Amino acid sequence: MIAQNTIQQILNRINITEVVGDFVKLKKRGSNYLGLCPFHNEKTPSFIVSPAKEIYKCFGCGKSGNSISFIMEHEKYSYVEALKWLGIKYQVEIEEVNVTPEIKQQQQVAESLYAINHFAQKFFTKELFEGEEGREVGLSYLKERGFREEIIEKFQLGYSPEQKDAFAKTAINNQFNTELLVKSGLVVNRYDQLQDNYRNRIIFPIHNQSGKIIGFGARVLKNTDKAPKYINTPENELYIKSKILYGSYFARQAIDKQDECLLVEGYTDVISLHQAGIENVVASGGTSLTADQLRLVKKYSNNLTIIYDGDSAGIKAALRGLDMAMEEGLNVKLVLIPDKEDPDSYLNKFGAAHFKNFIAANKKDFILFQLETALTDAGDDSTKKAVMVNQVAETISKINKAEDFTRQQDYIKQSAQILNIDEAGMHSLVNKFIRERIVKQERLNPQVDEYTREENARKAEDTNYDDHTFSLLFKDELQEREIARVLLEHGSKNWDDDQTIAAYIFSEVDETLVDNEQVKTLLKVYKNFELDEPVDRKQFFIYSSNPILSSLAVSLLNFPFEESEHWQKEFSQATGYNTALFEQNYEAFMKSISPGNEKKLFTFLKMGEDKTNEEVQSAINYLKLRKVKRLLLENQYDMDKNQTSDEHETLYQTHLYLKQAEMELSARLGAVIIK
Ligand code: UTP
Ligand code: MN
Repeated sequence: MIAQNTIQQILNRINITEVVGDFVKLKKRGSNYLGLCPFHNEKTPSFIVSPAKEIYKCFGCGKSGNSISFIMEHEKYSYVEALKWLGIKYQVEIEEVNVTPEIKQQQQVAESLYAINHFAQKFFTKELFEGEEGREVGLSYLKERGFREEIIEKFQLGYSPEQKDAFAKTAINNQFNTELLVKSGLVVNRYDQLQDNYRNRIIFPIHNQSGKIIGFGARVLKNTDKAPKYINTPENELYIKSKILYGSYFARQAIDKQDECLLVEGYTDVISLHQAGIENVVASGGTSLTADQLRLVKKYSNNLTIIYDGDSAGIKAALRGLDMAMEEGLNVKLVLIPDKEDPDSYLNKFGAAHFKNFIAANKKDFILFQLETALTDAGDDSTKKAVMVNQVAETISKINKAEDFTRQQDYIKQSAQILNIDEAGMHSLVNKFIRERIVKQERLNPQVDEYTREENARKAEDTNYDDHTFSLLFKDELQEREIARVLLEHGSKNWDDDQTIAAYIFSEVDETLVDNEQVKTLLKVYKNFELDEPVDRKQFFIYSSNPILSSLAVSLLNFPFEESEHWQKEFSQATGYNTALFEQNYEAFMKSISPGNEKKLFTFLKMGEDKTNEEVQSAINYLKLRKVKRLLLENQYDMDKNQTSDEHETLYQTHLYLKQAEMELSARLGAVIIK
């Protein structure tokens, strides 16, 4: 953990325009700064940084956050890593607390391994470009394969000479610790002699997401049966195979922008694609995809396109990862390259344009692909076919997020078609799997409250809600977010002479009105403050170390810019003035006001103040109204089931009571009907 004191020092020094400015060219515009969004492709700038609020927001793609979350998002860092980055930038020494001696030891080993790898990369690259053997053997091999110098340099490729201790000797002369040299996998202890592990090989350094070298792959120059084609770094503090995606450092920007991650098998595939201008690509290293790797992909994009050689054993391995990918919410496509080519050889043979066309034309949905392959395999065997139907239904059942509802329905339809079975049957089979999983989860997790459980059971039982009902139950969280926003924006102001707005809100709203976990968390945390103190909590939430809280706060707190449409209209209606001058230059504006209009303006500004309470009250009422509407819906659902007449009477009374409440709330909201 990083010491609170360190965090505070960093926060004191942070300047968001400096932090963002390291990555984005910003131009001043009014009190804000404007630039091209680093998170999506755009030609007209819509990325705004507000130094006053210490936040950024892109009006194109909607990404927003504070300095820390910018670094986290842009560099794909964890919270702690982002703080460390900022610590270096602002020269704040990072003090870590509660570090056990073991962890400390591990960190030191990791640091030393980085240093060794860095040194080794320089050594191998120098050998490749400057050594006689390197140039004649290594460089000419790479050039023959069509790699140009700038791409070789970009990926920091190298060459390890034939001599048995070329690297070991240099490293020892440079005082590197022998034990650690062995641990790095660069050096082995043979017959009590330190020798190089990679000899006469092309060296591919493997970078982590922030560009540090965590290990190497070393390729033989001529394929023979005697030596393994690649020797890779052994598992150590840095090199953890299940977490590595080769090329992620060079691909991250492009994946972000294209919102798609291409996945290939080999090092050379990645490099070739880069050379062809396709940069959103990483490699799995030929083994089956792990959950950690998929999570890494998901950091950048939800769209994963796997490009494998059609005959490769890798496909089967990749298929195994499919259910996992579904649960991670990834949208997986597959392209198979025919005729024993891999992406690298295909590119060399047919060129970049052809390759791109081929990918675009041959992207297959992974689930449907799996289904078609299995169908071919099953032939006429009806038992096999039944197993398959079940498998597909289970896979589809794992797409279980509200926002993916349509996608799930699509899959049900399409797979029923491919399998030539009844769509309704597929539907209920998928529901069966959802139900089973929920039951299982409940057993593991019995503290799920009653309401959620019922809700889940109902979701599982009946996915035939019409769209309107569906959105009311699962999606429509606007009212909840509005309460949180009002609380943050106005909580510290006075509601009346006796209490703050925050205190008032909590006297009216409790957690049962709210489902969204993020909003719930925010309310819980806020409630623990001394509510009578008129303290502004915006900064607290914006800079919370809990990413749920900080991202929620940032997304709720608007820029003045955003408010201005509404504000402009009201302002010009009430005063006859336009807001542009007011926003740009307050003094000039005040001077321009004619004496007769001064009073009007004052009334307007006062009116603005008074509106706060109205805003708060209507947020509360909307939330209550929605709750009432939900209860009505649930009550309706129970009424529709067959009941004894007694039960029915109770339900009907409840119905009337709720209707009454609905009317009253609607009336107070000025008969604005929410959807
Ligand atoms: P490939 O055999 O397809 O190699 O293995 P490649 O990357 O296309 O290399 P070239 O084009 O023949 O030079 C795919 C990946 O599997 C891993 C490596 O990560 C390789 O890039 N691999 C393969 C190993 O780790 N060890 C091996 O012996 C072979
Ligand atoms: Mn290859």
